[in-house]
Amino acid sequence: MRQLSLGGEVPDSENLSSGWLTIRRVIPYLWPDGQNWVKKRVVVAMIMLLLSKVIAVGTPFLYKAAVDSLAGESGSATWLLAIGAVGLTVAYGVARLMNIGFQQLRDVVFARVGQRALRMLALRTFEHIHELSMRYHITRKTGGLSRIVERGVKGVEFLLRFLLFSIGPLAIELFFIAIILWLVFDIWYLAAVVGTIGIYIWFTFKVTEWRVKIRKEMNDQDTDANQKAIDSLLNFETVKYFGAEAREAKRYDNAMAGYEVAALKTAYSLAFLNFGQAFLITGGLVIVMVMAAMGVESGKLTVGDFVMVNAYMIQITLPLNFLGTVYREIRQALVDMGEMFGLLEQPAEVTDKPDAAALDVTGGEVRFENIHFGYHDERPILKGLDLTVPAGGSLAIVGPSGAGKSTIGRLMFRFYDVNEGALKIDGQDVRDVTQKSLHDAIGVVPQDTVLFNDTVGYNIAYGRDDATHADVIEAAKAAKIHDFISSLPEGYDTQVGERGLKLSGGEKQRVGIARTLLKNPPILLLDEATSALDTETESNIQASLSEMGQGRTVITIAHRLSTVSEADEIIVLEGGVVSERGTHDELLALSGRYASMWDLQRAEVEAG
Ligand SMILES: Nc1ncnc2c1ncn2[C@@H]1O[C@H](COP(=O)(O)OP(=O)(O)OP(=O)(O)O)[C@@H](O)[C@H]1O
Ligand SMILES: [Mg+2]
Repeated sequence: MRQLSLGGEVPDSENLSSGWLTIRRVIPYLWPDGQNWVKKRVVVAMIMLLLSKVIAVGTPFLYKAAVDSLAGESGSATWLLAIGAVGLTVAYGVARLMNIGFQQLRDVVFARVGQRALRMLALRTFEHIHELSMRYHITRKTGGLSRIVERGVKGVEFLLRFLLFSIGPLAIELFFIAIILWLVFDIWYLAAVVGTIGIYIWFTFKVTEWRVKIRKEMNDQDTDANQKAIDSLLNFETVKYFGAEAREAKRYDNAMAGYEVAALKTAYSLAFLNFGQAFLITGGLVIVMVMAAMGVESGKLTVGDFVMVNAYMIQITLPLNFLGTVYREIRQALVDMGEMFGLLEQPAEVTDKPDAAALDVTGGEVRFENIHFGYHDERPILKGLDLTVPAGGSLAIVGPSGAGKSTIGRLMFRFYDVNEGALKIDGQDVRDVTQKSLHDAIGVVPQDTVLFNDTVGYNIAYGRDDATHADVIEAAKAAKIHDFISSLPEGYDTQVGERGLKLSGGEKQRVGIARTLLKNPPILLLDEATSALDTETESNIQASLSEMGQGRTVITIAHRLSTVSEADEIIVLEGGVVSERGTHDELLALSGRYASMWDLQRAEVEAG
């Protein structure tokens, strides 16, 4: 199915000035500090550009001299006429070739600059997106983000190509030709050409702006028809159940009819644009040629001059034909680039302090001091949480769904900053240390493990950068997934599918445990790490998890209380505060919330 872009997102005229700002933001990538080879290439490419244009503008002189020599006139410089018509014609050919040669050289020299700039820009944006906060990522669609980058980079590429290789050269050429017309002929030729081009550009821009609206309408109709078609095909079964094929076809046809009307308007307006452009250019061409013809008749000009004027006019008009398209595309490119640079300027919510030191883990004590936090100000999730997990100790957090258990983990990892209070690891506030060192110190097995669309082996090895295959197997064994992986036809090379969808929930969870085992961090956070497993596998893994927990600080979040009864301390989190705390036995003796949850789960197990 065709993926439609949001066609016709073209800015209003006032936004066009921001277009210059956008262009300015590309310049550092084309003229980067400390990368002299780039600057050298840019300069050489610009020299090539100038050379090719000087030659292009000089070529009609040779043509004129050849014609004058053939017509036996002496309108050209004597040294030129001395070469003779044949020699001049050959020189004309050589000049044309040189013109194109320098153009191509310019492209070759510039290609590396352009490609490097695009790569730097894409990389910078990619890195920046990773720096952006969790909050930002959750609210934006990832597909949308990558589309912004993709379109932005394409926009930059387009702009470079057209500004440097199309509009820029055209402007230079027009400038040179205008000067020649003025110097060689007289000011009226210049006036005629400038007037024609001025009107032509005005006409093209105006009509193009009008057409942009028409095209937007066409794109909208197209999207509409497409959505109807996709929706209908997705609901294939429903359509059959209700025998609604004819109804669906009618709905689709109606949408297509709208598209037809809009597409026709687009075609008609294009015809209008093309004819209008041709009319203006031909008018200008004829006026200038008539002026030249009269000059030849009155003996002021030679036949060669007449031919030269014609050659210049043709040289000007050819590239002008594309002006409408180029104008429209450049505006679109500016919008796309603006979006990308907007993304680049989006500040990261969580950043390292300038003087942030690396976290120094001495034992792994985790302390929550009067923590208040909410994702939104109106809705606090944690309301004054006070907790200490001693170095090497274990803490279990239980509580109803939505109480904020996973939120505690996100705060530890500093996906978000607390609103009030402090979260300290070995006495260091997590806001004062580098995120890198903090992330290195904490291993997380999340509630729902998401895998990369690669092999099982790759996903386990992800836990540590330099893990060997033997390490991977060892971790897989500890996570009780090795036997399963070995039983697969392709073993560790099995592809897990997008987000790991080809694995069952329990298998995914064990891969997640294996890669955290491989990471081997001093602080471990298990968020319902074994919730998707059957009781037997769970108790097997539980053994390796508690083995792994030796000498580490472990925070376990669990629904199934049997998995946390061994913890040094258990807290019940309810309504954003700790409602009960103590060891398993203490909490049972309390006969409170924990005790009733325990009884309920025991009853379930016995009933099951
Ligand atoms: N990114 C977010 N933006 C806004 N609200 C959120 C966000 N993430 C979680 N919440 C809300 O915060 C509350 C606590 O979420 P949290 O994930 O910590 O719950 P939990 O205790 O882990 O629950 P469960 O046992 O179901 O996993 C929930 O009510 C949830 O709706
Ligand atoms: Mg949770």
